Amino acid sequence: MTSLRTAVLLAAVLVGWATAEIVYPSPNKDENDSDFWLELGRKEIEEALEQPKLTNVAKNVILFLGDGMGITVNTAGRILKGQKQGNSGEEGYLVWERFPNIGLMKTYNLDKQVPDSAGTATAYLSGVKANFYTLGVNGKVKLDDCEASLIDDNRVKTVLDWAQDADKETGVVTTAQVSHATPGGLYAKSASRKWQCDTIMKKYKATSGCKDIARQLVEDEPGRNMKVIMGGGRQEMGAPLEEGAKPKCVRNDGRNLVEKWQQDRDAAGKTNAYVTNTRQLRDLDVEDTEYILGLFGDLHVPYEVDRNTTLDGTPHIKEMVEVAINRLNKHDKGFFLLVEGGRIDHGLHYGMPKRALEELVAFEEAVERALELVNLEETLIIVTADHSHVMTINGYPNRGNNILGLVETSDDVSDGLPFTTLMFTNGHGYNFTWDGHGVTRRNLTGIDTSDKNFEPLAAVPTYEGSETHGGEDVAAFALGPMAHLFHRVHEQTHVAHVMGYAACIGPYDDCDRPVRVPANVYETIRDQNREKRKGMSSATANGASFVVMTLAAVIQVVRGAIYC
Ligand SMILES: *[C@@H]1O[C@H](CO)[C@@H](O)[C@H](O)[C@H]1NC(C)=O
Ligand SMILES: *[C@@H]1O[C@H](CO)[C@@H](O)[C@H](O)[C@H]1NC(C)=O
Ligand SMILES: *[C@@H]1O[C@H](CO)[C@@H](O)[C@H](O)[C@H]1NC(C)=O
Ligand SMILES: [Zn+2]
Repeated sequence: MTSLRTAVLLAAVLVGWATAEIVYPSPNKDENDSDFWLELGRKEIEEALEQPKLTNVAKNVILFLGDGMGITVNTAGRILKGQKQGNSGEEGYLVWERFPNIGLMKTYNLDKQVPDSAGTATAYLSGVKANFYTLGVNGKVKLDDCEASLIDDNRVKTVLDWAQDADKETGVVTTAQVSHATPGGLYAKSASRKWQCDTIMKKYKATSGCKDIARQLVEDEPGRNMKVIMGGGRQEMGAPLEEGAKPKCVRNDGRNLVEKWQQDRDAAGKTNAYVTNTRQLRDLDVEDTEYILGLFGDLHVPYEVDRNTTLDGTPHIKEMVEVAINRLNKHDKGFFLLVEGGRIDHGLHYGMPKRALEELVAFEEAVERALELVNLEETLIIVTADHSHVMTINGYPNRGNNILGLVETSDDVSDGLPFTTLMFTNGHGYNFTWDGHGVTRRNLTGIDTSDKNFEPLAAVPTYEGSETHGGEDVAAFALGPMAHLFHRVHEQTHVAHVMGYAACIGPYDDCDRPVRVPANVYETIRDQNREKRKGMSSATANGASFVVMTLAAVIQVVRGAIYC
């Protein structure tokens, strides 16, 4: 780090993030020179020409799902990540933004232009689009229609079934409740995502044969076969709670589903562990524990900005992922893992960008950790979102302006007041007042807009926690075998189909592709590459001949914290 950057960082710490003068410097010292951009452009062209196509079978599949991580959130998260390192931030990349393949997903539900996380989870986990708020059922089941959800033909198989049928090991890690919409999309069949516990089901009078989602996880296939289940949700599971836990979905049927989960495994002679804090997670012996259940919150796992980071507290998502992969990676037939950054969405619903973006940065660390732990030649990694949010990035803050800060002055703004770069079109931050002459908004000068609880202005008022999802497409970033099947605007269901096809499971299990690319293929590629690197002009001349980048080079590009 240059001394200038250190000084800026120090200044930022001393005066607090609120001060508008903090401008983070660019790490690219030569960016004012034409040559810098011409060279960077040349490298990107070279990288694009060298796009690898790994057509072998994916032994493992890891799906990273940033809940609510729309493209705006992704961009803001990228900038925050850079600023946390003392850089201006815009020039950097999140680790998945260097993955070689990307597509855009249409997120609508069958009955909604703007979707929820349950209908979308059904789409990207089963390959079949569904209605708003429904889990694991097709379009014939509308919200709350318990009866229709019980009809076999209306229930869909998911990538979790496909992976288990292929004898792969499976798991889920989330920072939301383990019975929440995204994990529920893997294993539950429910006409409402709200039916997480028996009490709620009674409220909806949905008792005619429908089972709550937490029970489905523990009692039914494929949920109960998962080797790793980590997240929050002790309340829905009927497990012992912390003192003073707020009752949201308390079990009234007397079931303790954690005990039931343990008893089932003990009865089958299977090693298992139930863990509830960081110490217990770290003490786990993954070599000797076949089934792991970790519940790190009565409701959700605490936000990264609130988390108790001591051993008695709750683990960082990266630690959860590390344990999950270390456990699942032992199996020769491979594994499927879903990792959800579940609280990016919650921070946004509360209209608190700092909360959401810190969740995104933590989620990114989990992806980075995973890349170090698996063989990327045989693991398909997809990073995507279920839907977007109505947050936007306002114009025109200066380069390096605190992404959580203010745009001090703008000739375009007619009331002359500063405003935050990040703002919502609806949300709890709505705050307009009548000053006797006209409608005004708050003068934010001197307010700490980087506080974790700060709510930027919203145009339409909502109840607390009810800022809505947004309807534009989300990105899917992919790396590994068959990652190139993401190539245009797709239906969100495409995610499930790519996972199935890449791993030769589910609807694509009749597959004759090689399990591994022979080692010498990479040697050939490496030689071609070496020759090609002798000069860019010869590579361009050879453009017609298909040159594949070495996997090692791809990994270097993906992992490198390089800016150019
Ligand atoms: C680029 O030039 C501008 C003035 O036009 C200057 O403020 C800025 O610091 C320069 N950037 C770098 C990285 O030197
Ligand atoms: C906003 O508040 C600051 C500090 O109190 C003040 O200097 C500025 O004039 C105010 N802006 C407007 C438009 O009232
Ligand atoms: C709303 O704005 C007024 C001034 O316009 C301010 O006094 C008040 O604190 C604001 N409310 C919130 C919740 O920020
Ligand atoms: Zn949401």
